[in-house]
Amino acid sequence: MSSSVSLLGLGSMGSSLARALIAAGMRPTLWNRTPERGSPFASSANLAGSIVEAIQSSDLVVSCLINYAATWSSLDRPEVIEALKGKTLVQLATGLPADATELAAWAGRHGIRYLDGRICCFPATIGRPDAVIYYGGDAATFEEHVGTLVALAGKSIYAGENVTNPTMLDCAFLSYCFAAPMAMLHGAAICEAAGLDPELFFAALPSFSADVNRRSVSFREAIRARDFTNVQSALQTDLAGARMWLACSSELGVDPAFAKALLDVMRVPVDQGKGALDTAYLFEAFKGAKTA
Ligand SMILES: NC(=O)c1ccc[n+]([C@@H]2O[C@H](COP(=O)([O-])OP(=O)(O)OC[C@H]3O[C@@H](n4cnc5c(N)ncnc54)[C@H](OP(=O)(O)O)[C@@H]3O)[C@@H](O)[C@H]2O)c1
Repeated sequence: MSSSVSLLGLGSMGSSLARALIAAGMRPTLWNRTPERGSPFASSANLAGSIVEAIQSSDLVVSCLINYAATWSSLDRPEVIEALKGKTLVQLATGLPADATELAAWAGRHGIRYLDGRICCFPATIGRPDAVIYYGGDAATFEEHVGTLVALAGKSIYAGENVTNPTMLDCAFLSYCFAAPMAMLHGAAICEAAGLDPELFFAALPSFSADVNRRSVSFREAIRARDFTNVQSALQTDLAGARMWLACSSELGVDPAFAKALLDVMRVPVDQGKGALDTAYLFEAFKGAKTA
């Protein structure tokens, strides 16, 4: 039983990764702690009877277990280490930078080539051209396997030798990934509290999203140039709008926590006399934030 790639973990994300490999014309070897999860793939993949068998089947081993603790308990065993020697391990579970550093060092000690990756999309997006996974580690190892990895995510992005880089980029992704859907749901809640059908809001959402995306162009220019004087919308103007937004939505009984948090972020640079600058200046304000 030999295939170009073996996959460890068939949870929600792992199953999507498996489907993407199969859709790309591969016949991967699959392993999951609970074997029943392999059943849907019985005709389109090789189902390994053990983790060692899965690893022995391919030179590229992609692991997507729930976390690093599960990855450690699955991999840090003599027979598994022996099977992994000389192969490439790609670790895709979410974790802290220190987790990536520790596992990379372990792999290095055992002669296992290692890439640490972070999946920056949901399972339904896996396999699409716009799916994003960041990878860190040895550049040559990434180059060797990127032809397979693009089957998982069209945007398989090499983020440098440092294996902690994908975690940092994952955090940047999460800023957007958490805030944007919350904003959608907050907007829908305002509609309902005002007796309006949230559909009126959702119907216009593609236009709102496009407008926000266009804003990223001027944000990128301002950040590259470190010049926030090309004003599309001044911080003080946005702050006035945010005050109206908080007052109005609070009056409707919508939880004010979300609007208050954003308003507080805007208020600090305005109080510091930066209100006439473009909203892009919040980039500097965020960097200056100190934790208590
Ligand atoms: N789902 C998403 O939207 C998403 C997005 C980005 C990143 N991720 C990351 O992808 C990783 C997997 O997430 P998921 O959504 O696939 O989770 P999930 O559906 O809960 O699946 C968890 C997987 O981990 C395995 N597992 C758990 N504990 C284990 C252990 N002690 N030993 C061996 N295997 C163990 C499970 O095996 P059993 O079937 O035997 O329990 C299953 O294959 C996570 O790190 C997650 O943060 C997920």
